[in-house]
Amino acid sequence: MTILITGARGAVAKHLAALLRERGLDIRTASKSPGADVVCDLGDASTFPAALKGATSVFLYADPAHIDAFVKQAAEAGVEHIVLLSSSAVLAPDAESQPLAKSHLDVEHALWASSIKATTLRPGSFASNALSWTWTIKSGKPISLPYPGSHTDPIHEADVADVALAVLTNNEISGKPYTLTGPQSLTFAEQIAVLAEVTGVPIEARPVTREEWKAEMADYIPAQFADGLLDWWQSTDGRPVQLTDAVERLTGHPARTFATWAADHAGDFS
Ligand SMILES: NC(=O)c1ccc[n+]([C@@H]2O[C@H](COP(=O)([O-])OP(=O)(O)OC[C@H]3O[C@@H](n4cnc5c(N)ncnc54)[C@H](OP(=O)(O)O)[C@@H]3O)[C@@H](O)[C@H]2O)c1
Repeated sequence: MTILITGARGAVAKHLAALLRERGLDIRTASKSPGADVVCDLGDASTFPAALKGATSVFLYADPAHIDAFVKQAAEAGVEHIVLLSSSAVLAPDAESQPLAKSHLDVEHALWASSIKATTLRPGSFASNALSWTWTIKSGKPISLPYPGSHTDPIHEADVADVALAVLTNNEISGKPYTLTGPQSLTFAEQIAVLAEVTGVPIEARPVTREEWKAEMADYIPAQFADGLLDWWQSTDGRPVQLTDAVERLTGHPARTFATWAADHAGDFS
């Protein structure tokens, strides 16, 4: 049994590779950049044969560019199970018209249509999204929040990896979609308060208008993505996320809190 882990530089993939190694399982790390066991660029189908050779399971990042070729070549190589890092965005009623949700949905559809067993992990928001605030925090500036009361369900990358480990190593729970959330629905303002408390770094939040935020982000986020994000935050403003117990059911331990994530990453903020 050889497990191919794509996106090896990703936070979830790194945790998962360590967990599988600890258990003495045979893994092959794959990245689009050099440094992993093999090059596998999900945007370049010519890299698939070498990466898939001899693999029996795959941990896959969601990139729709060549997913049909990937699935076909995986079946030919003898892959029996693919675990996809998808997103709960696929569950939105308008997922087909939202670019980010649709890219995950297209990959899910290709997997469900194939003869290979698929398990799709659908996390909500990664706690690690808070890393986007590091530069602002380190420079002592306030964090601009267009919707301070917008809720997310921050999930620790280690919990997503623990779930991936569980479904890769237990046939009885694989082959299904799972919606994964953190243990609490927290507003952005609440997350910032937790970060300040856990890291001991004073952090100020500043409410801004949509237009002010878009202007601030213009050099980093294209306008259509900025609008998509703002619309999403507006839709979750004051609305707690519906939580699932999937992490605990699948791993046997409660999902890690945002405070735990902040403690694990305190060095990134100071
Ligand atoms: N951030 C969230 O809130 C959230 C929520 C739900 C789902 N997700 C999904 O989780 C995934 C990881 O998100 P993240 O923000 O945590 O990023 P991340 O830890 O930085 O991981 C992203 C990884 O994806 C891999 N990747 C990107 N393009 C690739 C390609 N062409 N071929 C192979 N691998 C490629 C990269 O690995 P290599 O450079 O090693 O190839 C990269 O390390 C994304 O697919 C995202 O949509 C994120």
